[in-house]
Amino acid sequence: MKIALGVTGGVAAYKAAELARRLQDRGFRVQVVMTDAAQEFVRPLTFAALTGEKVITRMFAQRDSSDVTYGDATATLDSSVEHISVAQSIDALVVAPATAATLARFAQGLSEDFLSTLYLATTAPVIVAPAMNVNMWRHAATQANLATLRERGVTIVEPGSGYLACGMTGEGRLAEVDEIVEAVLARVTQSQDLKGEHILVSAGPTMEPIDPVRFVGNRSSGKMGYAIAEAARRRGAHVTLVSGPTALTPPALDEFVSVETTAEMRAAMLERFAKASITIMTAAVADFTPAVQSSQKIKREGSLTLELVPTADILAELGSRRAPGQLLVGFAAETENVVSHARGKLQRKHLDAIVCNDVSRPGIGFSSDRNAGRILTADDEIEIPEMSKLEMAGRILDALVALRAQQKAPKVTS
Ligand code: CTP
Repeated sequence: MKIALGVTGGVAAYKAAELARRLQDRGFRVQVVMTDAAQEFVRPLTFAALTGEKVITRMFAQRDSSDVTYGDATATLDSSVEHISVAQSIDALVVAPATAATLARFAQGLSEDFLSTLYLATTAPVIVAPAMNVNMWRHAATQANLATLRERGVTIVEPGSGYLACGMTGEGRLAEVDEIVEAVLARVTQSQDLKGEHILVSAGPTMEPIDPVRFVGNRSSGKMGYAIAEAARRRGAHVTLVSGPTALTPPALDEFVSVETTAEMRAAMLERFAKASITIMTAAVADFTPAVQSSQKIKREGSLTLELVPTADILAELGSRRAPGQLLVGFAAETENVVSHARGKLQRKHLDAIVCNDVSRPGIGFSSDRNAGRILTADDEIEIPEMSKLEMAGRILDALVALRAQQKAPKVTS
């Protein structure tokens, strides 16, 4: 496995050398990326010698006499598109020490140098270990940037407290190298806890044509289902996403199937269900479809009465076909009696879990980037406070990993 280790400008930059070594001891290949400021504190050659890998020090290619080599390792050897290939090849991005300026760049999505561009370009887990002066650490701007990064799923290894290089005492000292290594291991292993699972996710709305122009549909954006698919992929699962029409760009997955109507979604899900070890039905399937579909555009002459008939309940059908060991998860968007309605669906559709939320609450659900709700299982109820959909996807997958562990655990009888 490969880790990109970002080193930014702080006195603690020298500790990154020890970190690089320790990560290598754990079997990781380490690719060091240094900011300009970091190079004021430590020379790239130190890292080139330790890792045996080229050290990336600038954004654009510049192979000249300033390139320094140590054995086979070249200290400066960059390329203008390298951030993309590095971004795709790494299993984690670790930044230690991370300065206040680096946190700000990451939080704002500024691609000003190789490291901040790499942060934007990678979908691998990101772990940052900040180090700075105590007042900079406590500043509302830094704390807001940290909150943004946490919300986006970045792991923050909190700094320790003590005497700081600036002469002050307080929080801001780079966490112990041991602690950073533990955080990296936890994140990288956690990120593979769905390896071996074949996950089938449905997302978005379905659209039922009234005529060639109009349709019956709903407000689903598809964001929750896409977030689940992306998070599951990152955690090592083989992922198939069956999506109704959305404005989203499909994440890099094993299979992406685009559908429009409920009938098409049903066919796509049934075809793939037997192979799936976990199926998550996030889609907001249209509950009704026009009884008759006009082949010509209906003219605006007088009033129009549409007869709607119920669509097939895809999830209920999957529930009736499930094999032992397969996990099946539904969603329930409710506007009242959220938990009792959702529990009814959990039982009726033979599900292992149902994620329910109150869509009448402002700021969450449908087209929002945020969500909140509860995960209900036969004997548990997990509250999910308001958070980003990607974070919520992580909580849902955590609950499924726990369900899987329960299935595997030997039954204890008294
Ligand atoms: N669902 C489905 N097929 C349908 C309708 C819903 O597979 N035709 C799935 C949804 O993807 C979701 C779950 O069933 O995972 C619950 O959807 P919801 O619309 O809340 O439930 P319904 O059974 O349609 O009940 P109601 O609309 O009456 O609340």
